[in-house]
Amino acid sequence: MFMFKLFVKNRMSSFKNLLADFHIVGPIGLAVTIPWIMYRMFSAAWLRKSYNDLIGKVVVITGASSGLGEALAHEFYQYGAQVVLCARRRQELERVRTDLLHSQCKSTTYPPIIVPLDLSEPNFQNHVDKVLSITGKIDILVNNGGISYRGLVKDTRIDVDQRIMAVNYFGTVALTKAVLTDMLKQKQGHIIFISSVQGLVALPERSAYSASKHALQAFADSLRAEVAQYNIPVTIVSPGYIKTQLSINALTSTGKVYNQMDATTEAGYEPQYAAQEIVKGVLKKKKEMVLCGLLPRIAIFLRRYLPFVYFFVMERRARKSRLRDSAVGKEK
Ligand SMILES: NC(=O)c1ccc[n+]([C@@H]2O[C@H](COP(=O)([O-])OP(=O)(O)OC[C@H]3O[C@@H](n4cnc5c(N)ncnc54)[C@H](OP(=O)(O)O)[C@@H]3O)[C@@H](O)[C@H]2O)c1
Repeated sequence: MFMFKLFVKNRMSSFKNLLADFHIVGPIGLAVTIPWIMYRMFSAAWLRKSYNDLIGKVVVITGASSGLGEALAHEFYQYGAQVVLCARRRQELERVRTDLLHSQCKSTTYPPIIVPLDLSEPNFQNHVDKVLSITGKIDILVNNGGISYRGLVKDTRIDVDQRIMAVNYFGTVALTKAVLTDMLKQKQGHIIFISSVQGLVALPERSAYSASKHALQAFADSLRAEVAQYNIPVTIVSPGYIKTQLSINALTSTGKVYNQMDATTEAGYEPQYAAQEIVKGVLKKKKEMVLCGLLPRIAIFLRRYLPFVYFFVMERRARKSRLRDSAVGKEK
């Protein structure tokens, strides 16, 4: 009986302690939670209103014939932007335009414009002049078009490295310069680069792709500083895997098309989700967006703050991958 009383007394006193703690923790919790909820409500209302800013904006999107570019075209179009669809395959651009014209929209719409172009042939002044002759201005440039790569450095022909750089880096830089001239005259605009998590951390067997995306990050950082005074924000987006044709269209070490859907790409974000997040970031004029899950974020952290751990993990990954390849080779 005595033991029972003692037990109840102990419990009561710990309950009282808990209440006393709540007197401190409660107000602190409320002081943090209420402003946080208000901030979230305010930013949601602000974002709803900001979508109206896209009405009538001219948005040039490269790589608009599939994947993320196509999803971005839908996202900008439905909020009233006039989208200019660029890529090599005219037929696919026509398909995207037809889909847009038949889609349900939340705003007034403007007919999409098609401008076929090849990023590896970097002379874009005629293309830009053509757009300007129709629209009179370019408000937003989304540098999204790109190709990926699979291969070991030792096996990869130099013309494959050059081709990846020509499309992902030099083509993007050349188009940006062609559009920038008009934006500087207007003293307004917004330039977006779709880089990749691999523009922040390089993976084995992706050397050319990672290098091209790292180069884009540096270019965007320099450009951002230079054009801020002209009211031209620069946003660089680093997405993780997105479920698109990227791995299928990737080049191999010999320059052939890889033609395989990687499991990682298949399990990636839906392009529509990525496009929604990117447009939100654009409205918020974010300078940088990393759009990925926890593991890639850990990799970015390790590369920056604990590089020796990152180097170790990547060496293991490269060794494992080579073992896998040689096992596959034996099976063949
Ligand atoms: N999917 C992912 O996991 C992922 C992750 C991070 C970043 N990204 C980036 O997202 C961007 C879009 O890729 P995606 O995933 O949507 O892949 P995708 O479906 O293969 O789309 C690539 C787009 O780029 C265009 N393109 C390729 N070469 C071109 C060239 N020489 N000239 C002009 N356009 C060209 C393609 O159009 P045409 O073939 O008609 O020319 C296509 O519209 C790329 O920059 C990619 O690096 C993708």
